[in-house]
Amino acid sequence: MKSSLLRLCSLAVFLGAAALGCKPKNTSDAISGDAASKVYVAPGKYDEFYNFVSGGFNGQMSVYGLPSGRLLKIVPIFSVFPENGYGYSEETKPMLNTSHGFVPWDDQHHLELSQTEGKIDGRWIFANANNTPRIARVDLTTFKTAEILELPNSAGNHSSPFITENTEYVVAGTRFAVPMDDQNGDVPINTLRKNFKSSISFISVNKDSGTMSLAFQLRLPPIDFDLSHSGKGPSHDWFFFSTYNTEQANTLLEVNASQRDKDFILAVNWKKLEAYVKSGKGRTESAKYAHNIYNEQTHSATSTIENKVLAIDAQDLKDICYYIPCPKSPHGCDVDPTGEYIVGSGKLAALIPVFSFTKIQKAIAAKDFIGTYEGIPVIKYESALYGEVQKPGLGPLHTEFDGRGNAITTMFVSSEIVKWNIKDLKVIDRKPTYYSPGHLSIPGGDTRSPNGKYVIVYNKITKDRYLPTGPELAQAAQLFDITGDKMKLLLDFPTVGEPHYAQAVEASLIKDKSVKFFKLEDNKHPYATLGEKNAKVVRNGKRVDIYITEIRSHFTPDNIEGIKMGDQVYWHMTNLEQDWDVPHGFAIKSAANTAELLVMPGETQTLYWTPEKPGIYPFYCTDFCSALHQEMQGYVRVSPENSNTPLSFSTGTNLPDSANTPQYLKENLN
Ligand code: CUA
Repeated sequence: MKSSLLRLCSLAVFLGAAALGCKPKNTSDAISGDAASKVYVAPGKYDEFYNFVSGGFNGQMSVYGLPSGRLLKIVPIFSVFPENGYGYSEETKPMLNTSHGFVPWDDQHHLELSQTEGKIDGRWIFANANNTPRIARVDLTTFKTAEILELPNSAGNHSSPFITENTEYVVAGTRFAVPMDDQNGDVPINTLRKNFKSSISFISVNKDSGTMSLAFQLRLPPIDFDLSHSGKGPSHDWFFFSTYNTEQANTLLEVNASQRDKDFILAVNWKKLEAYVKSGKGRTESAKYAHNIYNEQTHSATSTIENKVLAIDAQDLKDICYYIPCPKSPHGCDVDPTGEYIVGSGKLAALIPVFSFTKIQKAIAAKDFIGTYEGIPVIKYESALYGEVQKPGLGPLHTEFDGRGNAITTMFVSSEIVKWNIKDLKVIDRKPTYYSPGHLSIPGGDTRSPNGKYVIVYNKITKDRYLPTGPELAQAAQLFDITGDKMKLLLDFPTVGEPHYAQAVEASLIKDKSVKFFKLEDNKHPYATLGEKNAKVVRNGKRVDIYITEIRSHFTPDNIEGIKMGDQVYWHMTNLEQDWDVPHGFAIKSAANTAELLVMPGETQTLYWTPEKPGIYPFYCTDFCSALHQEMQGYVRVSPENSNTPLSFSTGTNLPDSANTPQYLKENLN
């Protein structure tokens, strides 16, 4: 009783400090004199790095240039985006389909760039959705979401999307233990230990197309997964996961999941697991999940509901899973570039444990276990431990590596980043951050080959760093030069959404592959209009398809009559431009439950519209495309359901009736 009270007290101290934000003393910390020149990217010049930053509760990903911190793009992934019509156009709605129906929002936490042989290859970036568990793949030639795969038997998809060194698998651990989808979930919550399970999903990735497939799920005892990283080099076959709530509590986790001194890092031999699956171990379970794919030829997404998953139980396989005790609610689980050192960061720990892959292997061979946890061996802490970083700061969360033998860890509670040497575990430098850093990112910092020029730190609390904007302030990133012994703060920049994990990569890997426009001759959209002469309006019962084109600076057609009440109208906009950076937009007055469309050159996108009442509805181009952009406009006439207004459409021929010409125009005054 006494010891658990003590534990509670020390916990309260930690949490109290966190609540106060632990503002560092020297908040006026002078940034180095030459900082401005180090982040200055002259107008017209390109940044050296792309920085892909998760959007957290905005469900999107933002792309910044580094070192300037300039925001280049927001890529919608799991949330609708009225700015370009993602999730509003008929073509993109299926991307947000799930087994629960259309879900227009999610919480996007982590990003992982695809790798080949442990190095970033610049092809795709994977993103997780926490709330309705999903994994997305964004294509880095188009910067569009290419695919979204829902994950069954999961809830709070936090420990994802981490990948193996050749992108063989994207791996996703569940945050919440839950009853399995094919079981009756109507059970008392406090039967968690009996009726709930945790799952890790292994998603295979086609190495040519990138197409994902839910290969199998590993079932584990009901413990919460937090984060993970794959092994590298010698530890290539392994995956490491941080866990918490080994207490298997189901209420007041703040206290009840912080009872034990240590939770676990779970080491999984995925290579052996894959072999077991291939040899026929595992069973097929029913499960319902959506698989959504965007086709770059038809410019359209399709959503397929899958109904089976292959499951395999960790307890049945004696040489796949091993728990390693890790102090105090581990959060980050990071593997150094050599693949030998696994860093666990206990949120409530006052030290950072570093585990040795070699020692873990020896301990497994010698069965150096302290027992089993629900049938899974638990390796003795000291036998897996390489050493501990002493007094690194308070609240270690995440670690990345500079490629020169050093690690940098964020300290949430003491609001600082701390650089330490992986070999001797000595702290080298510490710098305050403003305030309460969560994740950090070094270009390639979680791969075999980091580029140790910068670290970018993503802060949870901004407080007084910018002009106040009411109660809600932007989150912020800070850029540090890490080339010398001492880290130097160079730049603050506000971010959109709430950044969690981020990735950065040399721009040279991506920029030259970037698509400039879509070729019209490759446009296989079933409602594409490949030339103005093909523009038309087709009625089929209540359904009206408008095949309409956009080119600087008019619509074809721009006068449409004969639409009737009760019609279901599909505006299929084809942008005929074949030039970089000439999108056209489309918006029509009072169209409900939708947004504008932003149609890229060579692309076709569709807006669905049901007229509200008879009348004249103006429409126009929303993207400033030319000097006569403002003239890019048109009218559609809606008549009562029983009217006999004939269907007609035209551009440039439906001239005003001469009977009503104003005198001024007749006299041709100028
Ligand atoms: Cu087209 Cu503005």
